[in-house]
Amino acid sequence: MRWWLCGILSDYRGVIGEGCLELDASRGVISRISKEPPSGALVEDYRGKGFVVAPGFIDLHVHLRGLNLSYKEDEVTGCRAAAAGGVTLVVDMPNTSPPLTTPEALDAKLAALGEGCIVDHGVYAGIPGEPQLLGELASRPIAGFKVYPSDLRSPALREALKLRRLVILHPETPEASRGDLASFEPASRAVHRGCWWEALAVLELASIAPRWASVHVTHASCPSTIEAARGLGYTVDVTPHHLFYEALPGLDPCLYRVNPPLRGHAERVGLLKLLLEGRVDAVASDHAPHTPREKALPPTCPAGFPWLEAWPWMLFRLVRAGALSLGEFHWLVSRGPALVLGLRNYGELSVGARANVVVYDPKTPGRFPGPRHSKARLYPAFMAETAGQPIEVVVGGNKVYFEGELAEAPQGAVNPFKRRSRGPRPPSKN
Ligand code: DOR
Ligand code: ZN
Repeated sequence: MRWWLCGILSDYRGVIGEGCLELDASRGVISRISKEPPSGALVEDYRGKGFVVAPGFIDLHVHLRGLNLSYKEDEVTGCRAAAAGGVTLVVDMPNTSPPLTTPEALDAKLAALGEGCIVDHGVYAGIPGEPQLLGELASRPIAGFKVYPSDLRSPALREALKLRRLVILHPETPEASRGDLASFEPASRAVHRGCWWEALAVLELASIAPRWASVHVTHASCPSTIEAARGLGYTVDVTPHHLFYEALPGLDPCLYRVNPPLRGHAERVGLLKLLLEGRVDAVASDHAPHTPREKALPPTCPAGFPWLEAWPWMLFRLVRAGALSLGEFHWLVSRGPALVLGLRNYGELSVGARANVVVYDPKTPGRFPGPRHSKARLYPAFMAETAGQPIEVVVGGNKVYFEGELAEAPQGAVNPFKRRSRGPRPPSKN
């Protein structure tokens, strides 16, 4: 089926102008772009309403859980939350139960994503204990390998770095979690689990990585982490929570617990400055759902925020404030992450690009009412402060979200890592 979607077309190049996209649902691509649809065509027309038609957002760091952790979240609920936020591609993390470090676990996860996820999806494999398993893991359609602090010194990591696959680093050394023994309260945790561990982890990885390795540093919470990553030619993302929120004294230690921890004012402002200067490749949510019960029980409460429905709209506040242009916003949430992932047909409005589209109203004040689709319902109050609001979300030319209603089952959602190898390094903006 082919149909047309009209409105204010905008992507990382800024506002292209009022116009229309022809979406081909059978091929999953944008098949034509024009000022006017041909007469007699099937058209959904938002022109004159001030609604933006843009590439769907890409979240390269989410925890959809599933498998034995389905009581926290699963591939159905997590992907529904993504669609409701305007996110049309999610890439899932391997710290599941069982972890995605064996072909069997990875195959189970890929099958669950294929069956239940209503948006495009990918997954990172974990670093296996046995280096011999790397080849089998790499033969699956994965987005790359995720490196946790506990993997930094493993022999398998040295081998994984030689595979020419994307390697995505949680930038903390194993010593960082010692800071948790000294502190629980967020403001002191920010100090004890300090920035130095982040830059050290980046340098430690660089000390064993070939120069040509594709390394991405995720959820950098400190300016020094970004500087270290960029200095080495690595790509880097930041989360909205590290950009917008600080470890203020007196915060609920469980609700606001996240790894890396929320930082102090100077680090947060430094992070924001680097983002606004164009030195960050992507924004990612680190959507990390836990049950309300788990999140309310000190001292074992797990770290993480359930973000998928809200995070792009928190970032949109910077557009509303005049700090980010529309093009820069779309770079950070679509084109930048697409290039980090090596997906050159994602994140732009062009003929032949993946027909993943979000239509949004940039003018609504957009107060986030709380998660409606994620199983994780307990969220920090700062998430309520958003701007803008999705109206319609399209995946592969199929409508999956419209005015609050979601598609019941996947229609044309794909794993784009099934048919590609990582391309050249993304072009640096600076
Ligand atoms: O806060 C976090 N939660 N940071 C992580 O690195 C893991 C995540 C989780 O899986 O809950
Ligand atoms: Zn994470």
